[in-house]
Amino acid sequence: MKPRLQSEYGEDVDSWKTLMFIYNSALKEVSTKLEILNDEFKHVHQYNPIEYIKSRIKSPESIVKKLKRNGYESSISNMMEHVNDIAGIRIVCSFTSDIYRMAEMIGKQNDLTVVFVKDYIKHPKKSGYKSYHMLVTIPIFLSDRVVDTKVEIQIRTMAMDFWASLEHKIYYKFEGNAPEYISRDLRECSGIVSMLDAKMLTLNEAILMAKKEQAKTGHE
Ligand code: GTP
Ligand code: MG
Repeated sequence: MKPRLQSEYGEDVDSWKTLMFIYNSALKEVSTKLEILNDEFKHVHQYNPIEYIKSRIKSPESIVKKLKRNGYESSISNMMEHVNDIAGIRIVCSFTSDIYRMAEMIGKQNDLTVVFVKDYIKHPKKSGYKSYHMLVTIPIFLSDRVVDTKVEIQIRTMAMDFWASLEHKIYYKFEGNAPEYISRDLRECSGIVSMLDAKMLTLNEAILMAKKEQAKTGHE
């Protein structure tokens, strides 16, 4: 076995191009894994936990901006060490329960290492932001070395995603200085999103139960 390069330390990763190639490969690997998990789940439970998956590579401008914001010089090794979301995947599910199911399945994948988890569903941000974040690494097998590469996975419901995209737009419109009543109303909307998610989950459970009962009694 050839020595494994720990991407966190940046040794031997020669250029920006190589780096982007590696992050792109990591996105592909993780996306395929998620699709397989979704297909398997569908096969076993006749049900799709994932509504859709989006993935993206952070733009060079955003990488540089983030490094600067956190007081780091723009260098390849600083990028690899300090920017966790160069490769990012967003999984959008129907129900909150699907989020934890997905997270558990991801955690059980032997070739993925979970570096840390941030549960902004149990502990929402002050803004009202809710999502389940996982930072994982996946080994990328190149011809002469293996690079453990970071991928940020965000898992949320459709309602949480709707809230986050609107909040993101407003945040950028006001460059972080939104009027207080707007921030307050957004936080209120975040509460409504939680209520909607909880209601939809209960409704779905009731539907499943009613279908089971019907099947037992032989009704259509
Ligand atoms: P960033 O520097 O923004 O990446 O935050 P972080 O390093 O503290 O990590 P965190 O897990 O808090 O956030 C990572 C990502 O979650 C962000 O890049 C956004 O995509 C999303 N996010 C976090 N907080 C908010 C928020 O208040 N509103 C929205 N819309 N998205 C958020
Ligand atoms: Mg980010």
